[in-house]
Amino acid sequence: MSARHRLKSLVSPLLPLAERLVWGGERRERLLLAGLDRHYGSLLRRQWRHAPEPPHFFDHRIDGFAFAIGRAAPFPLYRGFLGAELARPGDTLLDLGCGDGFFARRLYAPRCARVDAVDVEPDAIAHARRRNATGNVRYVLMDAVADPFPSSRYDVAVWDSGLAHVSREDAEIVLAKVRDALAPGGALAGSESLGEDAGDHLQTFATLDDLASLLCRFFPHVQVRALDYELADGTSRREAYWRCALDPARLQAVAWRDVTC
Ligand SMILES: C[S@@+](CC[C@H](N)C(=O)[O-])C[C@H]1O[C@@H](n2cnc3c(N)ncnc32)[C@H](O)[C@@H]1O
Repeated sequence: MSARHRLKSLVSPLLPLAERLVWGGERRERLLLAGLDRHYGSLLRRQWRHAPEPPHFFDHRIDGFAFAIGRAAPFPLYRGFLGAELARPGDTLLDLGCGDGFFARRLYAPRCARVDAVDVEPDAIAHARRRNATGNVRYVLMDAVADPFPSSRYDVAVWDSGLAHVSREDAEIVLAKVRDALAPGGALAGSESLGEDAGDHLQTFATLDDLASLLCRFFPHVQVRALDYELADGTSRREAYWRCALDPARLQAVAWRDVTC
């Protein structure tokens, strides 16, 4: 055995102990998590309860952390996976009303060549640029209703938790713009809570069918589904998810396959 191998066999068994001494074991992990838990709890209070005006977007580091420590169900994050799975390598994606940029950076950017993430709120874009900057995401301050999109063609568009933040008339303008901007074979995915939602919603969809009838006016292929989930504060929400396309191939490509057993 060479001297190098002898040294390695002597040192290797000690490495886990050294790692534990430097970076901590379970007790240190509990302590760090308790500290982070308090930090994110405080962040939530500062952003929502103590702010002069509550924001129109959520900082998903907060529910992401709550999920990681087992406090919150993953459902608020679900929308990002549904949008991301439509994207393919090389795609360009438009994230409408991107809020804090969490989904743009963590779910859409890794699946696409380029993401244009747009929002009308200067605070949202500033937050997204500070917390969720990455090479292939461009954060753009703009009004999705009144301003032209940053590019004229997209393979995928996502509109998460933003449809009810505009009036019905404005939603129709945005849906028509998205339809015109989608590449042949492109698709739009989105999500919105159903029923009355206290706060900043400008329109309400009572049922999935209400939502679907709006989408069907712009796209010949529309898929919808709903999910009930409990929020961290104990209240529950019924969330609608949709996918629309001019050509159904992209929707079919991510559909579950029936297996004959
Ligand atoms: C509830 S947040 C959703 C943020 C993010 N998509 C998410 O899922 O966490 C709605 C976002 O839509 C943005 N928004 C509302 N009206 C808009 C408009 N006309 N153009 C662009 N963004 C808009 C708001 O500023 C807000 O950031």
